[in-house]
Amino acid sequence: MEEIFPFGRPVTGEHLVGRESLVEELISLVKNNQSAMLVAPRRYGKTSLLLEVMRRLKDEGWYVGNVDFFDIPTLDKLAEKIVKTTIENKFISADKIISAARKGIMALRESMEIKQVTQNGMEIILSFPEAEKDIDALLDECLDFPEHFAAKQKARMCFIYDELGDISKMNAALIKKMRSKFQMHKKTVYLFSGSQESVMRDIFVDKKGAFYGFCRVFELGAVPAEPFKHYIIRTFDRAHITISSDDADGILDQTQGHPYYTQYVCQTIYLNVKEKRNVETCDIKDGFEQALVSQQTYLDSLRASLKHDSILQLRLCAFLAKDEQRSVYSQFDDNRQNIYSALQSLIKKGMIRKTDNRYTLTDPFFKQYLRRIEL
Ligand SMILES: Nc1ncnc2c1ncn2[C@@H]1O[C@H](COP(=O)(O)OP(=O)(O)OP(=O)(O)O)[C@@H](O)[C@H]1O
Ligand SMILES: [Mg+2]
Repeated sequence: MEEIFPFGRPVTGEHLVGRESLVEELISLVKNNQSAMLVAPRRYGKTSLLLEVMRRLKDEGWYVGNVDFFDIPTLDKLAEKIVKTTIENKFISADKIISAARKGIMALRESMEIKQVTQNGMEIILSFPEAEKDIDALLDECLDFPEHFAAKQKARMCFIYDELGDISKMNAALIKKMRSKFQMHKKTVYLFSGSQESVMRDIFVDKKGAFYGFCRVFELGAVPAEPFKHYIIRTFDRAHITISSDDADGILDQTQGHPYYTQYVCQTIYLNVKEKRNVETCDIKDGFEQALVSQQTYLDSLRASLKHDSILQLRLCAFLAKDEQRSVYSQFDDNRQNIYSALQSLIKKGMIRKTDNRYTLTDPFFKQYLRRIEL
């Protein structure tokens, strides 16, 4: 499929719209040795932004590392990923070395590649295949490894822990361990991200949180309307398709500037109009509806997981999807405390947010989906 509006993978360069000032701010913080945390709901562009920061720092000679907790099923894998991403700064193929270590190839110690890894890196890698290894001790070493590596190579390192919230629920001790180590690091600056606002607040903003006072905290909102509109017009134009300014606004009205859904709706429209070469107002509605249908499985699963947690949470979302203006408390017979707790849980999950004393759903597609179903 020809994709002119990329979606479902991190975007860079011209496709990373409306984030330039934040990218620059993060880079300048990192250069001042200040770590930062980025919070935004799912698919708002956290990974894209962090990868862009990483790419630019790398161009300036920084070492970089990137671990996404979303892809990390076990602590073993975490340890391995930290080491891999770190040694790749020396253009060493970590996979090759680790798999040689797994096969027990002892000649590995003498190979040219591993000699560049540093002594402690080599010891860590050689310990990966051990069946009896002590994972806590291994993690102790791995969490410090980027710092040791950077110091040894006389480089500075920017290390990203993406989707940190995913691990914090399962392993509070690990989060504490990370803090106690990272605060001692002199060569490494950390960037974190998370999708669940209040989980991240518990870790970074709450006085009892493990990372309290460690980071500047940034909230990532929707992509601003003006640059997003110009991007849409420009990208269609490059494919020789015209779209009016009002129709580009119309798309953004529907998607609320949500980065992923906007790209997705635009790509759907593109496929529909590429023969006739212009976008009409009716194409926007059709594109949105079609995109909504194709997200059905994801939206069904969101609904099912909410229902599984609590039917009240699902009912509250459905209510907010239809009317975000009225007070929820007056509309439900449930006990006030239960309603309050359900709303707090929804905020914790990043499903809703509270602004100006109003609750709103963060996902514009889920909102439309809930408007159309009977509970
Ligand atoms: N600044 C942006 N401008 C335009 N589109 C963007 C931007 N940021 C993200 N996107 C779109 O959103 C999609 C998701 O981006 P990304 O994976 O960076 O988000 P995320 O917040 O890390 O998501 P997840 O919660 O799945 O980890 C991208 O594939 C792209 O289509
Ligand atoms: Mg991500």
